[in-house]
Amino acid sequence: SAIEPMRIALLEWYDRVHDARKMPWRKKFDPSLDAEGRAQRAYEVWISEIMLQQTQVVTVIPYYNKWMAKFPTIRDLAASDIETVNSLWKGLGYYSRAARLLSGAQKAVKELHGRLPDNAKDMEAKIPGVGRYSAGAISSIAYNHCVPVLDGNVHRLLSRFTALHAQPKSKRTLDVLWAGAESFIKQSKRPGDINQALIELGSTVCAVRDPVCSDCPLRLWCKAYQRTQPTASHTGAVE
Ligand code: ADE
Repeated sequence: SAIEPMRIALLEWYDRVHDARKMPWRKKFDPSLDAEGRAQRAYEVWISEIMLQQTQVVTVIPYYNKWMAKFPTIRDLAASDIETVNSLWKGLGYYSRAARLLSGAQKAVKELHGRLPDNAKDMEAKIPGVGRYSAGAISSIAYNHCVPVLDGNVHRLLSRFTALHAQPKSKRTLDVLWAGAESFIKQSKRPGDINQALIELGSTVCAVRDPVCSDCPLRLWCKAYQRTQPTASHTGAVE
């Protein structure tokens, strides 16, 4: 399909850069894991994604490592208390995130046999603080499900990619961008990596100010790039 060359370029870029960034929550999807093992991965990715919501990767890494040393499983977290959780969170800000992690873990232990739900829909419905973005991130990364993500970075990237001129927060704009995110991971073999590649490309190369288009694996298909670099439209396969 038309999307396949873009995915190949995106994953080739991701495979090249992500090793260098050494994020402890990133592990290759392991299809041999049983339900318990997958739920454990979901726990790890959940913690990392909530920490990453308002905080940069470099800042999150030591907090994530300390958290996992203290609460290696969701049951360890559920058995803790808000004072302990807040003390581990000290410096990250937005403490309501920590409180929601604690209450989410307690709910999972009480009502879900100590496991996060095995799909994005239930995760969003049942776990406090998990919205559509986090549910997509967790289920794609931990379960290899083809569920999209749209955070602020992917929003900007896809808006540029499609040269979308629209009300940034309107329902219509969000629908169009979610559909764009969906098209990237639909029937992909590596949905978690595609999503993380889009998040990372959006937060680094496709930065708010001074995007480094020359480093972008998607530039040949990018409408904004084509408009600022008139020669680009002659070099690549555009739809
Ligand atoms: N920001 C949010 N989620 C992320 C992830 N999985 N990797 C890198 N940055 C992120």
